[in-house]
Amino acid sequence: MLEVGTLGGYSTIWMARGLPADGKVVTLELDPHHAKVARSNFERAGVSDKVDLLVGPALQSLAALVDENARTFDLIFIDADKPNNPNYLDWAMKLSRSGTVIVCDNVIRDGAVVKKNSGDVNVEGARAAFSFIGGEKRLDGTAVQTVGAKGYDGFAIAIVE
Ligand SMILES: C[S@@+](CC[C@H](N)C(=O)[O-])C[C@H]1O[C@@H](n2cnc3c(N)ncnc32)[C@H](O)[C@@H]1O
Repeated sequence: MLEVGTLGGYSTIWMARGLPADGKVVTLELDPHHAKVARSNFERAGVSDKVDLLVGPALQSLAALVDENARTFDLIFIDADKPNNPNYLDWAMKLSRSGTVIVCDNVIRDGAVVKKNSGDVNVEGARAAFSFIGGEKRLDGTAVQTVGAKGYDGFAIAIVE
């Protein structure tokens, strides 16, 4: 699995716990402080051996992953700086194979995603994610809206043909 945006490692730990014995999560984080906290959380959760954390701008880490040997991932979870959603989706396609599932988080933005000219860069990022998925012939996708403590939120989910 590949994750863009680690923070404290909460979602990483959930994914790591769902892996088979030989599975790995590669997670990408810009902020060294967040990375340090995440590493200690991986340790306490007993999943350190299942997680590779790459620190730095995700666009650079993604390029390096492609350069290294074009390994592909079963699941790619995009949850970092929202304006870069289309760029992350573009790299995700390069790191995918047929059957890869791509999830892009926080695309509802309390309903603001339907406001065409909202002026909010995160809303623009959500809209850009939908445009990318809709325009990419190899992807079939939809969105799932959620509601709870964080208000109206949701994720886009797509499968690579
Ligand atoms: C929403 S949080 C991730 C939450 C985490 N996936 C979870 O659900 O527990 C977004 C994270 O992306 C990181 N981030 C923001 N811009 C980034 C970039 N350009 N490259 C890598 N990580 C970035 C932030 O530092 C932050 O830790």
